[in-house]
Amino acid sequence: MDLINPPPPLDPRTNKPFTAKALRLYQYKAAKKLAKLSTRAESHSAALSSTLSLLASLPPSFPSASTLSQPHYSYPTLPAVHFPPSISVPLVSRLLSRSPEYNRKNSPQELSLLHQLRLLSSSLPSSFQVLDIGGGNGNLASLAALLLNCPVTIVERDAHPVTLEHERSLPPSVRSLVTRVQADIAAFSLPPDSPPTLLLAKHLCGFGSDAAIKFAARERAVVGCVVATCCLCKIAEPGMPAAFADMYSLPEEEGGATIVEKLARVTSWRAGEKSESSVITEPMVKAAERVEDVYSALRRDKLQGRFESVKEITFVEDCDEGGGSQQNRCLVAGGQAAEREGEKEEFLEFVEAQIARFEADPSLDLPFDFRGPVARAE
Ligand SMILES: C[S@@+](CC[C@H](N)C(=O)[O-])C[C@H]1O[C@@H](n2cnc3c(N)ncnc32)[C@H](O)[C@@H]1O
Repeated sequence: MDLINPPPPLDPRTNKPFTAKALRLYQYKAAKKLAKLSTRAESHSAALSSTLSLLASLPPSFPSASTLSQPHYSYPTLPAVHFPPSISVPLVSRLLSRSPEYNRKNSPQELSLLHQLRLLSSSLPSSFQVLDIGGGNGNLASLAALLLNCPVTIVERDAHPVTLEHERSLPPSVRSLVTRVQADIAAFSLPPDSPPTLLLAKHLCGFGSDAAIKFAARERAVVGCVVATCCLCKIAEPGMPAAFADMYSLPEEEGGATIVEKLARVTSWRAGEKSESSVITEPMVKAAERVEDVYSALRRDKLQGRFESVKEITFVEDCDEGGGSQQNRCLVAGGQAAEREGEKEEFLEFVEAQIARFEADPSLDLPFDFRGPVARAE
């Protein structure tokens, strides 16, 4: 072997030897990337220290350390009530035909939230209804109507093309159970003669979950709610810290909105952890979880002022694979039934029986085609 003139190194991208010029360029880019990552790591480490000191010295209007150390208040101690894809996909696929990816991601979330709604409904008269705030494409609302056999109203701020309103794909007998209203929940009120209402709010980013909680707190017909929260980092967007501080009575003299904004920013550390070339460290993820605990405690407190019992669970695994999501926290409030955590087997038997009921109806063409777009607009 020629030790004086060793062969040029191989380009890992092509597995061919580098030319001298390509090697210089490659080394220059690698050094630049390393410098950028180390600058980001330094600024992250400073941000981590300042977050930890902020968490250690929160003003009195924020949840206290003793509140946050109660069992089931901090993220690692939240009860996990999950329906993994191995259970949820085959069940939900018998009712709705959707893409395998959509089903794998969404059916674990849908079954888990419907399980909580069913727990809440167990103490209600049969005439209850569900209000799905921010119901998007109507998949969850349709499943709620099919499985809980109750009227469901979607209150959705955005106008969707009718082809994305998947509740239109339901057969007429069930279709009549699902109504859609285009409105911001802040401007929506239930009619005075409304039946007992269970509120569902899945993944309304940032303050959207708080708008849903505000609605639950002000509307007398609402007897329970299931709020799967999402993207706290969006509370840092303009105008939102002040709205949040106002809703949870966090006065500016104590740093209210300023603290809300600072803390909201770091919650993105949890979502960023798994991205490629991430410089997010385990202590940063833990700090982001503790920050989320602060927001959850404020929301729980608000719900506690209105409902008999409140709990928080993780409703799916914390990951992107296998039907999980990093947005996996869910607040459940209502009567005593809200406290119940188990009974998954009973729920699965109930779902099985509901599906069998539809399968036994020869007039229905199961599974309903939810792959959209539907050809027919009403
Ligand atoms: C991330 S999507 C989730 C959609 C659906 N819940 C799901 O999980 O598939 C959030 C939806 O909530 C709606 N939304 C957010 N804030 C709202 C509000 N204040 N009132 C009504 N809808 C809202 C948005 O328009 C959007 O369609």
